[in-house]
Amino acid sequence: MNLLNMSTHIQQFDTLAHYFSDELLNGALIVTSTGIKGSYLSFLKSETPMICHDQFGKGEPTDTKITQMIAEKNKYDHDKIIAIGGGTVMDCAKLMVIEGLVDAEDAFTGKHPLVKALPLICIPTTCGTGSEVTAVTVAELTQLNTKKGLSHPALQPDEAILIPELLKDLPIKPFMHAAIDALIHASESYLSPKASNLTRILSLEAIRKILKGFQQMAFHGVEKRMDFLDEFLIASCYAGIAFGNAGVGAVHALSYPLGGTYHVPHGEANFQFFTAVFNCYYEKAPSGNMNELVKVIAQVLDCPKNHVFNRIDHLLVTLTAKPPLKSYGMTESDIEAFTQSVMNEQQRLLANNYVALSEEEIKAIYSALY
Ligand SMILES: [Fe+2]
Repeated sequence: MNLLNMSTHIQQFDTLAHYFSDELLNGALIVTSTGIKGSYLSFLKSETPMICHDQFGKGEPTDTKITQMIAEKNKYDHDKIIAIGGGTVMDCAKLMVIEGLVDAEDAFTGKHPLVKALPLICIPTTCGTGSEVTAVTVAELTQLNTKKGLSHPALQPDEAILIPELLKDLPIKPFMHAAIDALIHASESYLSPKASNLTRILSLEAIRKILKGFQQMAFHGVEKRMDFLDEFLIASCYAGIAFGNAGVGAVHALSYPLGGTYHVPHGEANFQFFTAVFNCYYEKAPSGNMNELVKVIAQVLDCPKNHVFNRIDHLLVTLTAKPPLKSYGMTESDIEAFTQSVMNEQQRLLANNYVALSEEEIKAIYSALY
């Protein structure tokens, strides 16, 4: 049995300036966002080529946006790409290093073979996606109205550079949604049938760190997160390694139609489904690894085992809002449509569920949160 794959070289630095050198920047193309460029990259020489993803459309990656970014990068001479940003930036950059790719949709449909042409260095500025250590990219496929993940060794970054100070300017709402996404990566990968003893260690440590950070924020106020930025960033990296090996499941699967149709950011959409899916798992199969998971969470949260997911929900909603699904524009008829979309388009993820969820159970989760 394979226990763990990790070909990305991971390093930590205090600041970007400590990491950057003339040698590194020579031949580099930087992919980032306008905000990060203004906050952290003003010290760079103006001749350093840079592409900001938000010049090609707001929000998370779509196939058409990535196609435009690929066309733009072809205007620059470069022999490596440095992606500095959240999941959007890193996921776009992963397809920008693919040899000869013109239309991003062709990567997702399997029309274009995935071969990496250039080294990719990823520097995360959020504490959620774990994209810096995974071979996964996720984009909205505009023709299908849903998001789809693509996993392939050619998408694995060569270097992941962790710099906690880059999280400082992340406002509380995206911070919370990112950290909740990482908590979900850790929890879903822990229960995945593909998990190993090694990935489960990383998942559990990520869960402990994130929940402890949230408890501190709930007790002392959300600014307390500034004392824990390194803990949140490394937890997100642990969770990324774990889910890069073991996968994520139904929480992500149920969130993709909501995210794809109503443009709800990834972590926010996942937050909607996390405890509902895990309560359903717990009711159906409270033994085995689920029992181990709830034992650990019960210890951290100091609550009975059968209350852990409700307790997590309570902790999270004290830190960030969880509105009903209809507030995003979802309609009653979407409950059926989203369920069918999950059953038809997300089998890659549903295969990682702790126990199988039926069509009726998925529909019931959408209905309860509607
Ligand atoms: Fe995620």
